[in-house]
Amino acid sequence: MKKLYPAIVAVLIIIIAAGAYKFIIKGSVIESTDSRITIELESGERHFILGEMRGLLSKIQQLIAALATDDMDTFIQVAKVLKDESRGEIQQSLIGQMPIGFKKMSYKIHSDFTQLYDDALAKQDTAYSLQQVSELMQNCVACHATYSLQVAAE
Ligand code: HEC
Repeated sequence: MKKLYPAIVAVLIIIIAAGAYKFIIKGSVIESTDSRITIELESGERHFILGEMRGLLSKIQQLIAALATDDMDTFIQVAKVLKDESRGEIQQSLIGQMPIGFKKMSYKIHSDFTQLYDDALAKQDTAYSLQQVSELMQNCVACHATYSLQVAAE
């Protein structure tokens, strides 16, 4: 019986590693019909993410409009919302199920939002902030070029 323990432990480690690989590294992905990686989600989760995305687009528009009118106060307000918004429980649990590349880009853009807010407060420099908006939007472009979302088949 004693000899069996290492085998049982080995099997358990393999099961845990496979689970960790699926949930932490790979996420739930399938072959895509275009060149992107398709992430499978429940319908409600997909709607939630797309709603968040439309919110991002709208906030980016507000940031640029504020810079165009030299309105640093509004810029800082919107940047603060972007910085704080990603901390919600639903966001965190959804990001947790995503492939590692998606997680990385998602964490990167959120740290860029924090930097955007901090620098806007400290520097009050519209040209500098505009440059940062342009740079952080490369995260939007890169993630959209890599991933698409699809509702998982029942
Ligand atoms: C970590 C990945 C990631 C980042 C970063 C990201 N997006 Fe998205 N976004 C997606 C995915 C995936 C979709 C769904 C694309 C598909 O299924 O074809 C999407 C969809 C969208 C949509 C379409 C919403 C709808 O209702 O169909 C908009 C608008 C959008 N994103 C805006 C943005 C903007 C603006 C940014 C940057 C400020 C951004 N996204 C950053 C992954 C990302």
